[in-house]
Amino acid sequence: MAVVVLGSINMDLTTYVPRLPAPGETLFGSSFITVPGGKGFNQAAAAGRLGTPTQFIGRVGDDAFGKGVLELVADESVDISGILVDPDSGTGLAVISVDEAAENAIIVISGANMAHDSQEVARTREALQTANVLLLQMESPLDVSLAAAQAAREMGATVIFDPAPATPLPPEAYQRANLMTPNELETEVLVGFRPSNQAEAAQAAEILLGRGLETAVIKLGAQGVYYQSATESGFVEPFAVNAIDTVAAGDAFNGGLGVALSEGKSLAEAIRWGAAAGALATTKPGASSSMPTRAELEQLLKTK
Ligand code: RIB
Repeated sequence: MAVVVLGSINMDLTTYVPRLPAPGETLFGSSFITVPGGKGFNQAAAAGRLGTPTQFIGRVGDDAFGKGVLELVADESVDISGILVDPDSGTGLAVISVDEAAENAIIVISGANMAHDSQEVARTREALQTANVLLLQMESPLDVSLAAAQAAREMGATVIFDPAPATPLPPEAYQRANLMTPNELETEVLVGFRPSNQAEAAQAAEILLGRGLETAVIKLGAQGVYYQSATESGFVEPFAVNAIDTVAAGDAFNGGLGVALSEGKSLAEAIRWGAAAGALATTKPGASSSMPTRAELEQLLKTK
């Protein structure tokens, strides 16, 4: 049916470097790009490019970066009428370095993203009248996201909560999310150990389910994805691609997962969609700019 994303939108200032700099070191980079990012908007861009009607709810500041980011995101297949221009905050910024091994380091200045309040909850509720999936992350205030999650559950929508960047969560976060999608580092923050294989991911999933979560989806990076609910569990092997930039791969995963669930696909198939979208996002530079099209995703899904 349709997807709503509530979350952050940033201007990403991305440098490509031979390796990530050591403390105190000055490095020459090879190139620089400026693209829209933010975990929230990246998930929306992913869902939109996969062909599902997608609405994004967020905020930018009334400044040059805000104007620039709004111009750029107008090209995506995302309804951006839910972006508020906040006269009292700066636009969110991310300063990113990507090395030759495709690894990244990101510093976020939240700005308007952390000024979300009950207005975002109201706009999310309105958007959910025509949608069946809500995607949330943690680059905007948790209380606002949890209020939106409650509204979504009352309206019968599925809530996919990406605990990124992770902090320990209150009990209601596990109870209001249908699915939670931590990577290894985020899982460690939530459960106290970092899973490095399927068995450890299963242990972590048990803990999350014990807190009231319906479905744990644990992203193990290049190893694959483990998922578990009360009735099923499984593991999706990674898709082989030529990775050049891992920025927003996790966001692409959530966009793909959300689209597949909104279309009524099974959990196992939806995880495959997420894994394929995440893999494809590593093959192109930038954040929202790296999201795959539906044709690209379907092509990769056919390979296994
Ligand atoms: O997940 C990648 C995103 O994290 C980037 O687009 C950056 O803006 C930060 O929010």
